[in-house]
Amino acid sequence: MKKVFTTLLAALFIMPLMADEGMWIPMLLKKNEADMQQKGMKISAEDIYSINQACLKDAIVLFGGGCTGEFVSDKGLLFTNHHCGYSYIARNSSLEHNYLANGFWAKSLEEEIPCPGLTVTRLVRMEDVTTQVLKGVDDNMSEAERELIINANIKSITAKAIEGTHYSAIIKPFYYGNQYFMYVNEVFTDVRMVGTPPSNIGKFGGDTDNWMWPRHTGDFSVFRVYAGADNKPAEYSADNKPYQPLQHLTISLKGVEEDDFTFVFGYPGTTNRYATSQAVDLAANVTNPVRIDLRTIRLNHYNNAMNQDAAQRLKYSSRVASIANGWKKWQGESLGIKRLNGVEKKQEFEKRFQQWAADKPMYKDVLPNMEKNYATLKSIELNSTYFSEAVRAADFMNRAAALLTLANTTNDSMIQVYKNSLIKQNENYFKDFDKHSIVDRAIFVETFTYMCKAGFGGFVANKDVDATKIEEMLGNIYDKSVLTSEKGIMKLLNSYTAKDAKKILKDPAVALYQLAYENLLPKSSRKQYNEVKKEINRLYRLYVKGMMEMDANNVSFPDANLTLRVAYGHVKGFRPKDGVYYKPYTTLEGIIEKENPDIYDYVVEPRLKELYNTQDYGQYANSKGELPVGFIATNHTTGGNSGSPVLNANGELIGLNFDRCWEGTMSDLLFDPLYCRNITLDIRYCLFIIDKFAGATNLINELTFSK
Ligand code: ARG
Ligand code: ASP
Repeated sequence: MKKVFTTLLAALFIMPLMADEGMWIPMLLKKNEADMQQKGMKISAEDIYSINQACLKDAIVLFGGGCTGEFVSDKGLLFTNHHCGYSYIARNSSLEHNYLANGFWAKSLEEEIPCPGLTVTRLVRMEDVTTQVLKGVDDNMSEAERELIINANIKSITAKAIEGTHYSAIIKPFYYGNQYFMYVNEVFTDVRMVGTPPSNIGKFGGDTDNWMWPRHTGDFSVFRVYAGADNKPAEYSADNKPYQPLQHLTISLKGVEEDDFTFVFGYPGTTNRYATSQAVDLAANVTNPVRIDLRTIRLNHYNNAMNQDAAQRLKYSSRVASIANGWKKWQGESLGIKRLNGVEKKQEFEKRFQQWAADKPMYKDVLPNMEKNYATLKSIELNSTYFSEAVRAADFMNRAAALLTLANTTNDSMIQVYKNSLIKQNENYFKDFDKHSIVDRAIFVETFTYMCKAGFGGFVANKDVDATKIEEMLGNIYDKSVLTSEKGIMKLLNSYTAKDAKKILKDPAVALYQLAYENLLPKSSRKQYNEVKKEINRLYRLYVKGMMEMDANNVSFPDANLTLRVAYGHVKGFRPKDGVYYKPYTTLEGIIEKENPDIYDYVVEPRLKELYNTQDYGQYANSKGELPVGFIATNHTTGGNSGSPVLNANGELIGLNFDRCWEGTMSDLLFDPLYCRNITLDIRYCLFIIDKFAGATNLINELTFSK
């Protein structure tokens, strides 16, 4: 009996049953292969990432600076999310050509719209460069010395890697600098907008449904990458040709059932899997609540304005989407951490670590030091949260900051540069000043008042001063500032020379901004912040190394750092709360259910309703005759994974990842298989919209379907 037990135990250590948590490094996927295949995968790790042959990796790109996209045709056609293409769609929209509201479909290459500034990055190869990066580094040197050596090494390694090529290379730390990988990339700069559904499909449910399940958002947009005659990246030119990727994805219309294997291949941005209890507490209980409250104030005002007219909707929708996105995620995160007893769980682990470390000089002080440093960080972090979420909430204060920069500039040619750009900005600013001023003034007054009442705005008023008094004072500052008088500011800027700096500094808004900065982020605390951050990073490097030594199973995968990763799991419903079970997929039926012509987020396009009424779903219907819209699975994802392909057991495209379920958004810190779900747009709904709704059959004809 004992023997059986010990062999079983040994087997467990050799092949630990992996949970669905994990964002794995494609180059090292061989070690997950058996687990993936046991879970249902029918292809090999080599099919996903290979240095010898074209593989799935060649079809995956970093879209812009923080999303994922994938090639779906041999002519560089690219799918990503609607919210990833959003700012480009918005930039190309006007009230006359409102692509956000009405959608856009290029019927030929000539109609595709250039998107200056948008890049698409393809990974050529990656390499473990830990030994070279750490050459010359030892445990006894100071952090500053260490950094110097590492930076010099990185510079020479990357230079050598791209010598004589058109590639770029970047080296990133993993496990807080215990390991380093180099990424050699190819960056495309001619990317054009090809298609997008109208917002009431691409953003259906809006911020009301954001981070939520059941979900019905048609969150996709279509772009195309162009290259020079040699198929290499080239600056925009009318002569460029559609890029021919080494690999593009094959699409499966067969869909998936509950428990089917799926994987996500993309660029997750940031996670903090190894965070200490203090870090978790700081996020969940200290900074999140403040950020949430202050953003609620802003969102109320913007939403009111957006509901008034189309011009204001266009003006605010991009910024509201981004303010609301964090606002809602943090609420889910804090709740999730509480539900999981996240802080206590971390503390339990830390106790075990400390017992293990007690007799090891290298590790015994790590956690006590961590605690000290986090205590210092906490107060600085709160101040800086107030600074970014209250002081810099209104445009009014951001404009004051820009004016202050001008006043602090002594170099004449720089003065000219700032001055001209400010003149342009202000000309624009006053175009719709009357309406905007009501919104911006209210945001300024309310966020500052909140800060004062919380005891962080002593430089304006003490927390026991009556709120109406504080509001009156702030309102006065707003009304008296030159920033709110078009004539005044233009006169000041047009004739501005260095000797007018005093005038700027005397302005009540500029003076207030300066005061806020000096009080909340004084030089001494900025310096301390940098030191503490560095020290914490050093401690994490030791902590994670210690965790590995203690038990290799403690450290399974490195935190996300905007490098290409594979996450895998199963299609699965979940129980968000007592008595409720969420099924894993949604259909067009749910869109009709949610329809409400009076609520912007729930307006249904008439054409979509027509298609619903005739049930004309063609090849996009599932076996029950329904039109599938979204599904959820246990893949571990985070911000940056948006637009990532979701693939089936054969490596065929079945959907686009675009979100997570609210109840599981603590997965950046703590993953709970019972609650953490990624949300995917079913490829059949995406193609149904392109084909049946928009009639863009030219695009459908480019795609490759599995038999
Ligand atoms: N929550 C998703 C992500 O983090 C989608 C955000 C965009 N959508 C929105 N309604 N704000 O990117
Ligand atoms: N919506 C996120 C993104 O833009 C994905 C997530 O946070 O799950 O990448």
